[in-house]
Amino acid sequence: MNDSGPATGSDRRLYGRRKGHDLSARRQVLVDSVLPGLRPRIDAQGGVDLKGPQAGRDRLWLEIGFGAGEHLAWQAARHRDVTILGAEPFLNGVASLLAHLDDTKLDNVRIIDNDVRPYLEALPAASLERIMVLFPDPWPKARHHKRRIVNPWSADRFCDLLIDGGELRLATDIMDYARWMMAAVWPHPDLVWTAQRPGDWRDRPADWPETRYEAKARAAGRPPVFLTFRRKPRTG
Ligand SMILES: C[S@@+](CC[C@H](N)C(=O)[O-])C[C@H]1O[C@@H](n2cnc3c(N)ncnc32)[C@H](O)[C@@H]1O
Repeated sequence: MNDSGPATGSDRRLYGRRKGHDLSARRQVLVDSVLPGLRPRIDAQGGVDLKGPQAGRDRLWLEIGFGAGEHLAWQAARHRDVTILGAEPFLNGVASLLAHLDDTKLDNVRIIDNDVRPYLEALPAASLERIMVLFPDPWPKARHHKRRIVNPWSADRFCDLLIDGGELRLATDIMDYARWMMAAVWPHPDLVWTAQRPGDWRDRPADWPETRYEAKARAAGRPPVFLTFRRKPRTG
């Protein structure tokens, strides 16, 4: 596996475990019987088939690395007119989201139970209204920084995928990653950081529930930052 330069396409593994403890019988059934119907496919033409009835929904959001899925399920319950695409390679997290969906009977979620990067290349330009990357794996060692999912390559992909005025939401509790994110995203000519005052990046927006990872970070004395960028309108 090539291990030089920043993470771009699917040249390098960016995530940790694919599976933790054994799934409960209920969750295993959900993985076996429900997940296949929610998995988007990259079709022969290289496009993404989201599958399933869109029921007139043309708004699409993407959450990358949804962990246990509590934030994604919260958003899906409050935005029934939006289809939310979630990417997470950790099977136990996928099973946890499936259980939330089963409990709430939400039908506006699709799940990529894998690396998001091929989808960042296959989704159509200007198809996403919002992209969320909340507490991505920090890869703290300097030699692993190139595995970070937020980097100049992904900033370009996000920009291509967002509609005009679309929103990119990033969060991290690792200050070195916050600086890294700013260095990767802030200079992008088509993205604008929306913060006007410190509270805009220190305080979690009201329409953004705490994730499991954020709770752990706060308990460990690491207050996070919340960075929101807006895609500039395309010209011409
Ligand atoms: C530190 S966890 C944060 C989970 C969740 N967002 C939260 O705030 O609780 C980062 C997650 O990103 C996922 N991840 C890492 N690389 C990924 C990739 N290339 N595509 C999709 N998800 C990825 C990991 O499996 C992990 O669950």
